[in-house]
Amino acid sequence: MLDEVATATGTPNIALIKYWGKRDEKLILPQNSSISITLDETLSTKTSVLFSKRLKEDSLYINEKQIDLSDGDAKERFEVVNKMRKLARIDSKVLIVSQNSFPTASGLASSSSGVATLVYALSTALGLKLSPKELSIMARQGSGSSCRSIFGGFVVWNRGKNADGSDSYAEQIANAKHWPEIRVIIGIASEAKKKVSSRAGMKQTVANGILYKSRLGYVGNAVEKMIRAIKDKDFKSLAEITMRDSNNMHATMLDTWPPILYLNDISKGIVYKMHELNEAEGESIAAYTFDAGPNAFIITTEKYRPKVVKALREVDGVSDVLEAKVGEGPRIIKDSLIDTEELASKGSR
Ligand code: PMV
Repeated sequence: MLDEVATATGTPNIALIKYWGKRDEKLILPQNSSISITLDETLSTKTSVLFSKRLKEDSLYINEKQIDLSDGDAKERFEVVNKMRKLARIDSKVLIVSQNSFPTASGLASSSSGVATLVYALSTALGLKLSPKELSIMARQGSGSSCRSIFGGFVVWNRGKNADGSDSYAEQIANAKHWPEIRVIIGIASEAKKKVSSRAGMKQTVANGILYKSRLGYVGNAVEKMIRAIKDKDFKSLAEITMRDSNNMHATMLDTWPPILYLNDISKGIVYKMHELNEAEGESIAAYTFDAGPNAFIITTEKYRPKVVKALREVDGVSDVLEAKVGEGPRIIKDSLIDTEELASKGSR
């Protein structure tokens, strides 16, 4: 597959039960299992990959900007490329061009769609034919949360017990068609890049958080209850478990020393607004959840979507509202971001 471009498209996932903390930094093994919904292509990443003897060095472009591969975070994430190249016994350099349809590193789960899409494209470009489980294990080693974006629908990432990570991968709980009424409404509270990366933040929480131990004590049970709620399409339970888990994770972040705060005043306004909405309805119709950033993801159903969108727009400072459905997961597409003729005319990149 040398000199052939492979292009994949993939989407972020939003965790209902969060992953925050590793038990192995190198292999990216989590302290707890987590559960997510893979979003549809409202937010998407497109990535083209080309391995060629003509390339003089590895290069990665995200949203037209060349990424410094000697930089800490990028360097660690790039390791997944080296692992897959080794597996395919190919030593050619690679050109990776990736485009997000949404702001990168602003708590819109860009790493989850970025790495999952990359691994998908790499597997095709290298002719590896990895199974979904193997793709998930690969993606996990680039960014933990991305191992869930290998699958569509409702997904669990099992913590696993093995020291080599062989049992720590994602699996589908139910596919995208299982609960088609589910909607994920996104309230943009800031498009700025976050100050503390999730990688650095969670490491600090595991190292010195006081509340973190209590999180680990409760979360196993929450995972079991969430799987039940998804299978039974029990929105009331899903809503409460989701909101409480987001609050719990953000409490452990604040309790980290020095403290980590990802939510801003707009996020807090959204939290209050959703509780008001649920109270006015007399039942939970909307469940907020926040990743490592201030933007809100509101889980609701098609029936209540207009009410949720209206309420979100009423919150002071919300600059945009996006509406997503449950997505199908990554796929290979024809539409390439790499112009091989242009590359050939330039010699190499
Ligand atoms: O994107 P990662 O793998 O560095 O971790 C992000 C973790 C959260 O988004 C905050 C929660 C989650 O489970 O997605």
